Amino acid sequence: MKKRVIGRSDLKVAPLGLGGNVFGWSADENASFAVLDAFVANGFNLIDTADVYSAWKAGNQGGESETIIGKWMKARGNRAAIVLTTKVGSEMGPDKKGLSRRNIESAVEASLRRLQTDYIDLYLSHWEDPKVEIEETLGTYADLVKAGKVRVIGNSNHSATTMSNALAISARRGWPRFENLQTHYNLYDRSGYETELEGFCVDNEIGVTSYFSLAKGFLSGKYRSPEDFTKSTARGDEMKNYLNDRGRRILAALDAVAKARNAKPAEIAIAWLIARPGIVAPIASATSVDQLQDLIKATQVDLTSSDIDQLDAASAEAPTS
Ligand SMILES: NC(=O)c1ccc[n+]([C@@H]2O[C@H](COP(=O)([O-])OP(=O)(O)OC[C@H]3O[C@@H](n4cnc5c(N)ncnc54)[C@H](OP(=O)(O)O)[C@@H]3O)[C@@H](O)[C@H]2O)c1
Repeated sequence: MKKRVIGRSDLKVAPLGLGGNVFGWSADENASFAVLDAFVANGFNLIDTADVYSAWKAGNQGGESETIIGKWMKARGNRAAIVLTTKVGSEMGPDKKGLSRRNIESAVEASLRRLQTDYIDLYLSHWEDPKVEIEETLGTYADLVKAGKVRVIGNSNHSATTMSNALAISARRGWPRFENLQTHYNLYDRSGYETELEGFCVDNEIGVTSYFSLAKGFLSGKYRSPEDFTKSTARGDEMKNYLNDRGRRILAALDAVAKARNAKPAEIAIAWLIARPGIVAPIASATSVDQLQDLIKATQVDLTSSDIDQLDAASAEAPTS
């Protein structure tokens, strides 16, 4: 499979990343191992997690996803074949939050321990931290790269203004720069990325990975009425945010393109992202191997320009006056 390069780094990834926020939440350890096994067996290598996954499940504390991935890599002996992404900055307990040197230095050690590895391929600031100068964060990352604990750095959820400032500091100080932006982007949620971030990332050769690539499952087409919300105990409640006129128009276009390509809506939604400017790899999660098969098939779908026009027209947002 043809690999894509993340930014100006030497990280090469297949064009689909596996989301790890389900590990220890809506996928238990057995299901997680099965999905991870199938993902790498099909030639994929980019795995995404964060220290905080999956703290929101009752009884969890954060670190569950990294722990499962660490156990799995250890059991399979395949660490070198994986491009491993994790993130820092979300709250992991009292006084354990943010992008200060003190927090990053302790959080990275905790992530490495849980992941049972001595390096992270791609380390991301999870959110902007307005309380910390970005120079402090970048300087800490520079030291981690020098120490061999991190190979490449990036961020998620940062604005173009913040990234621009960060790139200038990295260039001035001779430090590693952000090579990756991980951002909320899919066929339903378009405007944030397309208006502010896409041009900036393309111009500056920052490789983009999208999250919520399936709009949390909505773009698979399995939620067509409120009765369908019970199809996922983890995600169903959130589907009311998508099941509106525009959401239905998007599903109708996905259905039409999927029928013409003999594919499923989820495949088309991911294929659309793969074709977007700046996107290196959409990140999506799967709670079963069957779901993962659809995501994998998406990487073999070649959308025509007329398919893309149809999807774009259906997902156009009403102009604001
Ligand atoms: N940087 C950030 O701030 C940030 C934020 C959120 C997520 N992320 C990353 O992005 C990844 C992807 O986001 P996400 O997992 O929240 O959302 P997503 O990829 O949009 O949705 C994935 C969910 O859709 C359902 N699904 C997947 N394939 C399907 C198929 N073929 N047919 C039917 N349903 C299917 C599954 O849920 P059910 O089985 O429960 O239906 C799955 O967990 C995360 O795992 C995480 O790594 C990053």
